[in-house]
This record gives sequence, C-alpha cells and structure tokens, in this order.
Amino acid sequence: MSLFRKKNVEHMLQASAKGAGLKKTLGALDLTFLGVGAIIGTGIFVLTGTGAVQAGPALMLAFIIAAVACCFAALAYAEFASTIPVAGSIYTYSYATLGELVAWIIGWDLMLEYGLATSAVSVGWSGYLQSLLSGFGVSLPAVLTAAPGAVPGTFTLFNLPAFLVMMVITALLSIGVRESTRINNIMVAIKVTVVLLVIAVGVFHVTPANWHPFMPHGWDGVFGAAAVMFFAFIGFDSVSSAAEEVKNPKRDLPVGIIASLIVCAVLYVAVAAVVTGIVPWQQFAGIAHPVSYALQVAGQKWVAGFIDLGAVLGMLTVILVMSYGQTRIIFAMSRDGLLPAKLSKVHPRFATPFFTTWLVGIFFGLIGALVPLNVLAELINIGTLAAFSMVSIAVLVLRRTHPDLPRAFRCPGVPVVPILAVASCLFLMLNLAWITWVAFVVWLVIGLAIYFLYSRRHSRLAHHPHEH
Ligand code: ALA
Repeated sequence: MSLFRKKNVEHMLQASAKGAGLKKTLGALDLTFLGVGAIIGTGIFVLTGTGAVQAGPALMLAFIIAAVACCFAALAYAEFASTIPVAGSIYTYSYATLGELVAWIIGWDLMLEYGLATSAVSVGWSGYLQSLLSGFGVSLPAVLTAAPGAVPGTFTLFNLPAFLVMMVITALLSIGVRESTRINNIMVAIKVTVVLLVIAVGVFHVTPANWHPFMPHGWDGVFGAAAVMFFAFIGFDSVSSAAEEVKNPKRDLPVGIIASLIVCAVLYVAVAAVVTGIVPWQQFAGIAHPVSYALQVAGQKWVAGFIDLGAVLGMLTVILVMSYGQTRIIFAMSRDGLLPAKLSKVHPRFATPFFTTWLVGIFFGLIGALVPLNVLAELINIGTLAAFSMVSIAVLVLRRTHPDLPRAFRCPGVPVVPILAVASCLFLMLNLAWITWVAFVVWLVIGLAIYFLYSRRHSRLAHHPHEH
C-alpha cells in the first residue's frame, strides 16, 4: 500500500495558506501575456520547417488540431493545478491526492518535458543565431554548428552555440536571476512583433500555386505534423502556476489560458500559410531557421535579419522559464526524499538550488548539443502528453474521491472535457514515431527502477508517517 501513500491534504492547505502572502494582482490580460510569453519559441520559429516537410501546406490544419487538443488539456490541467496551488507544481498536488507512485511518474514525465524543452529551445536559438551572424558574414566551422546527423549531407558534431547559451542561462539562474513580469512583457512584444512582421511582409510574396497540392502526404502527414507541432503550444501550463496570484481565478484562469492558445494558434496558422506560400514545402528540409529563410527567399534580407534578432532574443526567456521549472520540480522531489537530498541543497549566498541548476544545465546543454531537434521535440511531446492525460484522468478521479476540496477553478463540462482531453492527447501520442515510443518506455522503465530501488525507501513519508 505504500505505493499509494499520500501527503496530507490538510497540511498542504495550511502550508499554502501560510504562504498566502502573495498579492492577488493578475487579471485575464496579464495571464494571456504570461501564456504567450511561455508559448512562442522554437516551435513556430524552427519546427515549422519540419512540420511543412511532413504535412505540406496543410501544416495550417496541423496547428489547428494541436491547438484544439491543447484547449481540452488546458482546462483539465487548470482545475488540477489550481485546487491547491502549492508552489505551482502538479507533481506536489498529485502526491497529496493520488499517492506517491503516480506523483513520481508525473514528476518523472515533467522532468522529460522541461529538461528536454530547454535543450530543444537552445537548438532553435542556435539556428537563428547562426542565421543572424551569417548576415554579418560570420560563420562557424560546420562541425560546431549542429548535432551529429542533424543536417543531411553535412558532417556535424557538436552544436556549440546551443551549448553555450545553456551555460549562460544556467549561470544566471544559479545566481538567482529570474524572469520578471516586465522582461516577459518586453519579450512578448518582441516575439509578437516579429511574427506579425513575417505575416505582414510575407503575405506580399506568396505564390498561391505553392499551396497545391495542399495535403501532399494525406491525413497521415497532417496528424503526424500535429503531433510534432504540439510542441509549439507547450508552455500554456505555466499560466495555471500563477493561480494563487490571480484576482478572479474562476473567470480569469480559463480566459487567460484559452486566449493565449487562440492568439498563438491564429499567429501560427498565418505564419504556416505565409511560409509555405513563399517557399515550396519540400525546400524546408534541413533548414534550421525556416521562418527567416522564407523571407530571405522572398528577397527581404533586412526583414529576415530582424526576424533572426527577434527570435534570438525571444527564445532566451523560453529557455530561462523552462530551466527554472525543471530545477524546481527536481527540488520538490528531492525535498520529499524521492531524489537524493543533495539536489535540494540551497546555496548559502545565492539562495538557489545551485548544484541542481548546474547539474541539470550541463546535462541538458550536452543533450542540446548532441541530439537533433526533431528527435528532442517528439520526446518532449510524448512526455508532456502522457502527463496531461494523467492529469485529466486525475481530475475525474478527484471529483469522486475529494468532491469537497476547494477548487479555485473548476473545469467546465466534466466529464466530457477531461475525457476529450485524454482522447486527444492519446491520439497525438499515437501519431508520434515508434522510436519515440521506445525511448519513452525506456525513460519510464528507468524512472520506475529508480523509484523501486531508491525513492520508495528514502521517501520522507516512509520516515515521517505522521505526515500521511
Ligand atoms: N512552445 C515552446 C516553444 O515553441 C516550448 O519553444
């Protein structure tokens, strides 16, 4: 039965009430900004190329399908995350309601999501930095530009810029630099401006003939691309972690989440239409900066340069936010005894989990330098989709087992919406490559092995039974 031992919900509610000093200042608009800031990144700027090769111009449809799946998942997620908004992590919350094993699996999946997402975004950043530098006639030796096997026909070994950007962000995080709302707002402005620029300038260079045939690889291609492009929407979950600071969570939380998804979906579909209208989709194979590439092809060198610059700046915050989330999940799991205590040691001067920050930064920095982006994106998606499905099921379970828990936000249309969320997440998962499934199963098996060999015995709850 110890697999299902739980943290005491009452204790957690009290702890959360103690921390209730947080001011409730955020409204729906702030949340939308928060969401858009976390969402727009490597997905639209880089994976658009991969998606176009897979789906052709029907990439537009792929974006819509991914966005719809996200909306369902987001609503269920928001209920789960806002019920007891303890430090914003669904890991902690599932520990209190569903027990240790489920919490471990969710935490383990989230580590895959956030950790590899930092690697993936660093790869995207590198592609745009190189495009920007090439505008000034500067180029790196080819072997240092990408992971082995990432560029067909070119010998590459190590993505140096991707590794270096991770080291810089890690250094900042380790001394306690966090993203402020002001910086986020500036970054959102930059990213949205860049995307609008692509659309506004690009639209005049579209050759509608490039949109035919619309679906060169049929629905298979569209669904496959939707499963990959789901990546472009990851980050909306960060909105619910602000639940405690929201003025009117019942209304503002769903509005903020759905609005940020809709804003991004509209921008993404427009970008997909423009870039596949400028460049025949086949030509995106192996291009690391497809959006600015399309503008280069259109002869708009200056605009392409601005896009490179905006993407380079805008993606920095995505790496920062994701790395931060990653270290905090590991921190929480370590504090609970499920991971070694060293991982939750706080630096005496900087008051950050210094050791964990560097460990994770170097590890995922190396992964970004050595693994091609499309492989990373698929892995991230499968981990995230699995976590979202579990959360959606948990929402249904908890409505039965804990009907009276105070819920800051209730998912509408229960049980239909959570069921649709599970179904759409599973559907997207099934459209990922089989090799991704293999890797995911390996990841889970490693996680379960660690749990049964280490975590179960070292769990705080095993030694402090009164905390049950
Ligand atoms: N949605 C984020 C991005 O596209 C993870 O970079």
